[in-house]
Amino acid sequence: MYHSRDTMPAAVIVGTQWGDEGKGKVTDYYAENADYIARFQGGNNAGHTIIVGGEKHAFHILPSGVLRPEKTVVIGNGVVVDPDVLMEEIGKLEASGRQLTNFIISDRTNLIMPYHKLLDGVQETRRGGKKIGTTKRGIGPCYTDKIARHGIRFADLLDPEGLREKLETFIAEKNELLAMYGVDERLDLEEVYTWALHHGERLGRFVQDVSTTLNQALTQGKSILFEGAQGTMLDVDFGTYPYTTSSHTISGGCCIGVGIGPTKINDVIGVVKAYTTRVGGGPMPTELEDETGQHLAEKGGEFGTTTGRPRRCGWLDLVVVNHAVRLNGLTKLAITKLDVLDGLDRIKVCTGYSYEGNPMTSFPPSLNQLARCEPVYEEFQGWEEVGKEGWKRIIDQGYDAIPENARKYLEFIEKSTGVPIEMVSVGPGREDTMIR
Ligand code: GDP
Ligand code: IMO
Ligand code: MG
Repeated sequence: MYHSRDTMPAAVIVGTQWGDEGKGKVTDYYAENADYIARFQGGNNAGHTIIVGGEKHAFHILPSGVLRPEKTVVIGNGVVVDPDVLMEEIGKLEASGRQLTNFIISDRTNLIMPYHKLLDGVQETRRGGKKIGTTKRGIGPCYTDKIARHGIRFADLLDPEGLREKLETFIAEKNELLAMYGVDERLDLEEVYTWALHHGERLGRFVQDVSTTLNQALTQGKSILFEGAQGTMLDVDFGTYPYTTSSHTISGGCCIGVGIGPTKINDVIGVVKAYTTRVGGGPMPTELEDETGQHLAEKGGEFGTTTGRPRRCGWLDLVVVNHAVRLNGLTKLAITKLDVLDGLDRIKVCTGYSYEGNPMTSFPPSLNQLARCEPVYEEFQGWEEVGKEGWKRIIDQGYDAIPENARKYLEFIEKSTGVPIEMVSVGPGREDTMIR
């Protein structure tokens, strides 16, 4: 079994595409060798599915290390938390016979307030045909308030007087905003205040200075795994803006999202789905709106963990993955869902874009420019259906037992990115994993 403790006291796991690459599964796997597993950005817009011993778990806000009770799971200041969802997730975990004892949440973490969810829905409706297709979990409005310095943080829940004062201002302001938007609904100060105090009572015991705790842990030689949510192309600066989420999904987001210095991170693992998917609006150059796209969606079970929406599918886009290699400083790749490509006759990989007849290998910042980009493909021969049992045997035998054409495909990704593949995932279960 792979052992990371000596080589990666602090490693970050990030998505290299538009999310849903299998970060949850990869995190759960690597978590075996970590002492702490921490989320540093995003909120319950994330949906991370993990299958252990045939039992399926979906986490939206708790870090994917939570199925290993001896580990400490952490929510950093860069995350936005809907306390109702957090309580619900803790409740579900406890109902399945697991106690959440080793859990900490940063005193600086912003709360997704009831008005953030309301505004997310209203703002989406106002976008009309230019909808982002958000998860409507209040993510954008919550980060907006954080940056506008109008946020409510977990520390505020433990200061009833200060909390009331802030809410008096914020609720009045949100009610004015709702009126301006022509929405009839109004927020009630007492109701929101009681709601917040209630969560303070329940969650207060988990609230801590996460930065101090994690830095102390590193000094003591403990190992930390940072679990990214969403993916590089959903990063608010480097993704397909404005069709992105509102946080920094790339590895740089980790430092500011938990309060550790960049010198503390020594491994960045990029999770790459063997093809591309995207849920919600916005461009996706390699999207397949044909039978092959449908085949990938069906075989890959491509339906959102959070919203249940069907995911758009297409060929692997190496322009996207190389964008992620550079932005995240990737040191290793974890390739997921290779099994979904089983049985295809031909497999295509986008190696660059053609922009008005000229080659383009970097991802353009302008969506109008991107719209004029045509993907340039390299074609690979597929391999025969391996199937679940077949992959089990291959895992026992090791990397070299992978069908030759699949290995060629993997090695092409490795060569094009210049980053070594360390993990190959061929099924959703913890055991469906190969370390090279
Ligand atoms: P995340 O958001 O990056 O954690 O990914 P999701 O959990 O939202 O989506 C990935 C989906 O693929 C989940 O349903 C996983 O159970 C599943 N999955 C992960 N790795 C593999 C794999 O190697 N093969 C197959 N067939 N499914 C996988
Ligand atoms: P995980 O962690 C895939 C997408 C939404 C929408 C856009 C903005 O499971 O990979 P938001 O609610 O964040 O304001 O929505 O981002 N999105 C995701 N897509 N996986 C996710 O998370 C996502 N989180 C947000 O569909 O297009
Ligand atoms: Mg997901």
